[in-house]
Amino acid sequence: MIQALVKPARQLLVIGGGFTGLRLAQAARRNGIAVRLTSRQSRTNSDGLEWLTFNSSPAGISLPAPGALAGITDVVVCVPPDQEQGDPALRLLGPSLLGLPLQWLGYLSTTGVYGDTGGAWVDETAPTSARAGRSQARVEAEQAWLATGLPVQIFRLPAIYGPNRSPFAALLAGQSRLIHKPGQVFCRVHVDDIVGCLLHSLARPQQERPTVVNVTDDCPCPSSETLGYAAHLLGHKLPPIEHYFKIASSMSPMARSFWSENRRISNQLLTLQLGYELRYPSYREGYRACLVEELDGGQSRRSPGSTT
Ligand SMILES: NC(=O)c1ccc[n+]([C@@H]2O[C@H](COP(=O)([O-])OP(=O)(O)OC[C@H]3O[C@@H](n4cnc5c(N)ncnc54)[C@H](OP(=O)(O)O)[C@@H]3O)[C@@H](O)[C@H]2O)c1
Repeated sequence: MIQALVKPARQLLVIGGGFTGLRLAQAARRNGIAVRLTSRQSRTNSDGLEWLTFNSSPAGISLPAPGALAGITDVVVCVPPDQEQGDPALRLLGPSLLGLPLQWLGYLSTTGVYGDTGGAWVDETAPTSARAGRSQARVEAEQAWLATGLPVQIFRLPAIYGPNRSPFAALLAGQSRLIHKPGQVFCRVHVDDIVGCLLHSLARPQQERPTVVNVTDDCPCPSSETLGYAAHLLGHKLPPIEHYFKIASSMSPMARSFWSENRRISNQLLTLQLGYELRYPSYREGYRACLVEELDGGQSRRSPGSTT
């Protein structure tokens, strides 16, 4: 009788244990959740994390062994879609996931699906407006996951930063560029707020999970502003200013596409309706925390959403 009242423990599968996936796995583990996570390489289990090999590359396709996903209750997909073949996790692991009693599947997407809004604010009610290429593949991946009938929740992310993915190393190495384009802003989010939001969502009942949630900070702003603050924190000089329209033709197509879209992403659903409190409402708190963690090699890290 008592057993029937005890909820079975959650077991999380993180597909793509890269920058965000690994940080999520570590935080979930600290919160007492059993975690399995994937990499394209074979990796040694440590710190309570169980690694599985998953690689969709035709040159070296590798799938977790049969039965390796048994007991999984929740999934977060952190693998980007392939422009030709769609989402590799859905294509290759989807049939196994459909056989599991999943309570929640978080899919990490991008705010690139909104396209260019000319700097205007955009929220989750806006239609997707992606151009061909990576963003269109992302729209198709979102739709494909939603069509599975699994309890899918989509998290749309802007540029992700965090410890060792911050502007400091490039500034110190003289590799940063201070580019100005009038009116242009970018949105960003600290990786620990993605992690915090995912753990917050995992803990909510299914009927209280909106299908699509933007996960971004409160402070869309020019990249010259964020770089200026990073240089200030380091006490390091800024590179010379370059005017976007003078250098655009020499930029890579990827960089040009990045600069060709200008939007302000609203986080009101996350912060006001779902009650998630951002740890890093702007790059200012976020960069300060990154610098501390980079300087002390990660010793200062606290767990987002930690209950301990
Ligand atoms: N970075 C950004 O600023 C940003 C912004 C918006 C959205 N996103 C999206 O958010 C998600 C997480 O981003 P992230 O920066 O944390 O990603 P990341 O560090 O690049 O990690 C991606 C993960 O996917 C795995 N992966 C990639 N291709 C794969 C393949 N063909 N087969 C199997 N596994 C594969 C990688 O495996 P390995 O561990 O073996 O490398 C890695 O674990 C991604 O979908 C990304 O596109 C990122």
